[in-house]
Amino acid sequence: MCGIVAYIGTKPAADLLVEGLKRLEYRGYDSAGVAVLGDHGIAMERAVGRVANVEARVDAAGDIFRGTLGLAHTRWATHGGVTEANCHPHTDDRNDICLIHNGIIENYGALRTWLQERGHTFKSETDTEVLAVLIGELYEGDLEAAVQAALKEVTGAYAIAVICAQEPDTLVCARKGSPLLIGVGSGEYVVASDASAIVAHTTQAFALDDYNVCKLTRDAIQTSTIDNQAVTPKMMQLEMDLEQIELGGHPHYMHKEIFEQPESLRMTLRGRIDKNEGRIVLGGLLSHASQLVRARKFILTGQGTALHAAMIGEYLFENLAKVPTEIEYASEFRYRNPIVEEGTVVAAISQSGETADTLAALTEAKDKGALALGVVNVVGSSISRETDAGVYLRVGPEIGVASTKAFTGQVAALTMMAIFLGRRRLMSVEECRAMLDELELVPEKIERILGSADTIKRVTEKYVNQENWLFLGRGYNYPTALEGALKLKEISYIHAEGMPAAEMKHGPIALITEGMPVVFIANRGAQYAKVLANIEEVRSRGGHVIAIATEGDTEITSLAEDVLYVPDITEPLSPLLTVVPLQLMAYYAAVARGHDVDKPRNLAKSVTVE
Ligand code: M6R
Repeated sequence: MCGIVAYIGTKPAADLLVEGLKRLEYRGYDSAGVAVLGDHGIAMERAVGRVANVEARVDAAGDIFRGTLGLAHTRWATHGGVTEANCHPHTDDRNDICLIHNGIIENYGALRTWLQERGHTFKSETDTEVLAVLIGELYEGDLEAAVQAALKEVTGAYAIAVICAQEPDTLVCARKGSPLLIGVGSGEYVVASDASAIVAHTTQAFALDDYNVCKLTRDAIQTSTIDNQAVTPKMMQLEMDLEQIELGGHPHYMHKEIFEQPESLRMTLRGRIDKNEGRIVLGGLLSHASQLVRARKFILTGQGTALHAAMIGEYLFENLAKVPTEIEYASEFRYRNPIVEEGTVVAAISQSGETADTLAALTEAKDKGALALGVVNVVGSSISRETDAGVYLRVGPEIGVASTKAFTGQVAALTMMAIFLGRRRLMSVEECRAMLDELELVPEKIERILGSADTIKRVTEKYVNQENWLFLGRGYNYPTALEGALKLKEISYIHAEGMPAAEMKHGPIALITEGMPVVFIANRGAQYAKVLANIEEVRSRGGHVIAIATEGDTEITSLAEDVLYVPDITEPLSPLLTVVPLQLMAYYAAVARGHDVDKPRNLAKSVTVE
């Protein structure tokens, strides 16, 4: 999604802004722009395509970009095509107000008509330009007051940063529904959509709250509501260092993050397994432990990969904690008028903590009286701030657009939550200890799978020219099949479908043709024999079976063209292992097809609009 970076301080703004844009590239974008306010007034360059394109234009423009106040933006088109005119920053029709925006101004059509009636003209098709012109219309010598007045007229979501040619020492930012962090350095401020564009300059920051406006000058911060009531920002320490967001010798972030999983999972588990007492310690849930234990129903919600983790969570909660659990796309939950009764707990699963649909579902659940939990990676994110209690993933920054280590972190966190509840409900100390013993071994077992990456690459390359793939699994590994298909389509653009293995017979079997790759998650478990029967059905129609199987399983070799082994593990924990070969298959397929794995077509890392 769109990325915002803005700067006011004493350093040359242009270099810092371009560097910030490069740090935000992972979020996904189609065009970029930079504006600097200096002695020459507002200098602005925008370009379609990579940040490097706008960087070249800024460099060529030379001195007019000298200045210590500026804005920059990566755009992910929503309103209006991918054209230079639609790129941010946008100025008002007098070129006095200059603005960058993340979000959607829903009533922009009505505002545009009103402004046109007052004689204003527009250069783009965007909702953002309407906001710039509106601020210009309301400007009477005080940028902060004009922004406050304009935002009272606006419906929708926004994170904005605004400068004004008449106020060379002022940067104004505001937020409603889209993330915005303000990094506080010494005599300088860096404003950005996420911490990755800030941490090179400062680790002190605060997150702007909804309906808040922040005026930054070189030596002061003033935060207020749009009604001009003073607000005291809550400062926090950003828990991210530069090394974590650099490639560190890996060819892509996705590669780095797949291979980081043994370590990222150790971080997720660290300090939370108490084998002596046979229990899980989750500090973020303790304040609501008795309410959670008495809960009558859990609803786990999220989007994309996070929803797949939630689906595994449903099996874990029902099997280990014996508590009724449902899962639902956050986007559907929100608008369906869901029944939330006494004793309902809603848990939002999200890596970024900023997914608009998930955040809205959580707000809906809270309004209906549910206890709201978060299973989130980014500390201090919007979702984490909205919840009553929760569990952080602690997997470190995930930069790759295709989620990998966050998925295993989510599944591990949900497993721990299920054991936390189960132990307080029906699980015995012995059952719990046995599960904890297995959980502790997961990182080491993933290391073993990663050791077979060359085999996974070789097998993937055999099928890489096939345009249609199926992923099939049962029980705990039905969601893993969905995740395998999602990974493959996201970055390799191969059409892939995931489904329960038994569902194939109810229609999709018609798609199977000679040589079509069908990936079966066929590890040993309760439904192993049934999966073997499904494999036979595929083989008899000419499909080529790639089986993810348990080490030592020789029976499967006679049924599958290719077998990728994972270590043996108790079934509830098996998705933590079986997903790893699927992540690697997607990665190697995308590389073999020549795609830029970290910048997949049309995708954004964090979807902050509905
Ligand atoms: O940040 P979130 O976990 O809330 O993001 C949810 C989905 O947008 C995300 O998992 C998406 O499906 C990924 N691209 C999957 O790789």
